[in-house]
Amino acid sequence: MSKKIALLTGGGDCPGLNAVIRAVVKSSLTNGWKVYGVLQGFSGLLDPENKVIPMGEESVRGILHIGGTILGTTNRANPFEYVENDEKKDVSSRVKENFHQLGLDALICIGGDGTLSIANKFSQMGLPVIGIPKTIDNDLASTVITFGFDTAVNNATDALDKLHSTAESHERVIVVELMGRYAGWITLNAGISGGADVILIPEIPFCMDRVCEKIEKRYNNGRKFAIVAVAEGAKPKGHDELFSKGKGEDGRQEVVLGGIGEWVATQIREKTVRDTRTLTLGHLQRGGTPTAFDRLLSTRFGAAAVRMIAEQNFGIMVALNPPDIIPVPLEEAIKNSKQVPVDSDIVISARQLGLSFGD
Ligand code: F6P
Repeated sequence: MSKKIALLTGGGDCPGLNAVIRAVVKSSLTNGWKVYGVLQGFSGLLDPENKVIPMGEESVRGILHIGGTILGTTNRANPFEYVENDEKKDVSSRVKENFHQLGLDALICIGGDGTLSIANKFSQMGLPVIGIPKTIDNDLASTVITFGFDTAVNNATDALDKLHSTAESHERVIVVELMGRYAGWITLNAGISGGADVILIPEIPFCMDRVCEKIEKRYNNGRKFAIVAVAEGAKPKGHDELFSKGKGEDGRQEVVLGGIGEWVATQIREKTVRDTRTLTLGHLQRGGTPTAFDRLLSTRFGAAAVRMIAEQNFGIMVALNPPDIIPVPLEEAIKNSKQVPVDSDIVISARQLGLSFGD
């Protein structure tokens, strides 16, 4: 039976979003369905005349390897706390009405924990919703991995590689602040792959004396430079993470973290008197071409979501459970975030190699 489905991308952009969009559109067209793209996340469903657009084969041509999202996205469009004329309102019923007025049979929401929590609320209101997990942070518990993470790790590793030669030439310490909010996956993976000497992650509160000891030991052993990879959510023992913008400010769904790299660099400078520089890699981690791994995972997620619609299996998120893509109830998918287990093989292996976690 022919269906009309819509899809949107919410929250921060992420490499692989276009590959998901392409997979959803292509597999829906194979089924003989109609597909509509919703622009700018959930806010598009508040303005269907201008922001819900029909999508055909030609709309997804040539986008498999392109970063970002052709549908646009925002992390300021939670319909349950929507900011309109400086006032916060619940406009979810308008979204629901518009969904029905458009005659849609399903809504695919591609996003991280924020977007998936909103999707879950709409599912509880009776909308046929399917979630697809996206985030470079890899912090969603119900899927082995999210798409975008692999690309972010590659981008961060590339930066660490490049910093080695300049750090060595100047005998400097370079502190690199990486993304990942409350999970240290990007910093841990890129830190190891990019040969960092110190890795600071939210899961292991650190002590500056330990960090400086490691740096001094390295210099005294004749390696007169050091690379410190610090996650934006890392915190010194007994302190909170530093952040620049709070949740809810400007209608934001998430806290924006930042500043720990500069703080660590200042401490190193004061305690060791080593020439120290800092760099926040920021959105470069999310930009550019998705890796082959992310393109494949995105494509599989998109195709699986369309299969779930055909089976009328709603209120779920598609998840990677190798070798399969499986449905997980949205309620369960958003319950827990996934942090780095401090006793995991990857942390143990890093310690064996002499990397310091500053603890
Ligand atoms: O969740 C993805 C992420 O890139 C985090 O790693 C980072 O803290 C945050 O988004 C940055 O958000 P924004 O793009 O709004 O600055």
